[in-house]
Amino acid sequence: MTDRLKDKVALVTGGASGFGLGIVRAFAAQGAYVVVADLDGGGAEDAAREIGGDAMRMDVSKDADWRDVATRVLDDRGRIDVLVNNAGITHLPQPMEEVEEAEFDRVLAVNAKSVYLSARHVVPAMKRAGAGAILNVASTAGVSPRPRLNWYNASKGWMITATKAMAVELAPHGVRVNAINPVAGETPLLKSFMGEDTPEVRAKFLSTIPLGRFSTPEDMGHAAVFLCSDEASMVTGVAMEVDGGRCI
Ligand SMILES: NC(=O)c1ccc[n+]([C@@H]2O[C@H](COP(=O)([O-])OP(=O)(O)OC[C@H]3O[C@@H](n4cnc5c(N)ncnc54)[C@H](O)[C@@H]3O)[C@@H](O)[C@H]2O)c1
Repeated sequence: MTDRLKDKVALVTGGASGFGLGIVRAFAAQGAYVVVADLDGGGAEDAAREIGGDAMRMDVSKDADWRDVATRVLDDRGRIDVLVNNAGITHLPQPMEEVEEAEFDRVLAVNAKSVYLSARHVVPAMKRAGAGAILNVASTAGVSPRPRLNWYNASKGWMITATKAMAVELAPHGVRVNAINPVAGETPLLKSFMGEDTPEVRAKFLSTIPLGRFSTPEDMGHAAVFLCSDEASMVTGVAMEVDGGRCI
């Protein structure tokens, strides 16, 4: 099947790299017109060129950037059918009391405040259309946290609760809101979670994943296509583990 998102307009944040890029590619392969929004403007352009979509440089923690991006997509395409809040960052593994305040603020602004800002600027158009699908990329860290990533874990727990709260409020408007909870995946961010990328640390992470491998951008693309397509028209408010069994 190649038309599961046919003619849908999708906005994917953090779409220049890792899971976001996997989602961008999977959406385009299913017929969506994809707008790749990323702090890395050059990376977003590369991704957009590859799939025949559009690129916009944005910082998801900035209200003005959301205003610009939402206005541009709505002016150019008339609607936003699918929104993926994927851009995210972490602090390095360390004791919770040692994370600097500025770093805490940045993690919460990028991982949590961005979802609020996306609602301010994208939800009104979805409500007017009476339809829409929002997908928040949270984490197994929000369900089953590991030590030393405390504030990252908490930001993803916030995202999962925001997903459920948004889902119940937006259901009467025809807008579905779901999340995926990826387990550690082969992306540039993985090194930051591990602290150091050694065979020993990799083995330690892998030992907690029953299916015995790291997740991939393709895994997230497959899950995202399902949750954002009409096949999931009865699915809202779920935070679906894509984790090889890690949270069992
Ligand atoms: N990789 C993992 O192991 C893992 C596990 C669970 C959840 N996640 C989550 O998946 C999401 C994607 O992570 P990834 O591993 O693909 O990371 P990544 O670093 O490969 O990609 C993240 C992308 O987001 C962009 N970005 C960062 N800050 C931004 C900002 N303020 N505004 C706009 N774009 C910004 C980056 O430029 C980059 O292109 C994140 O929310 C992350 O927390 C990752």
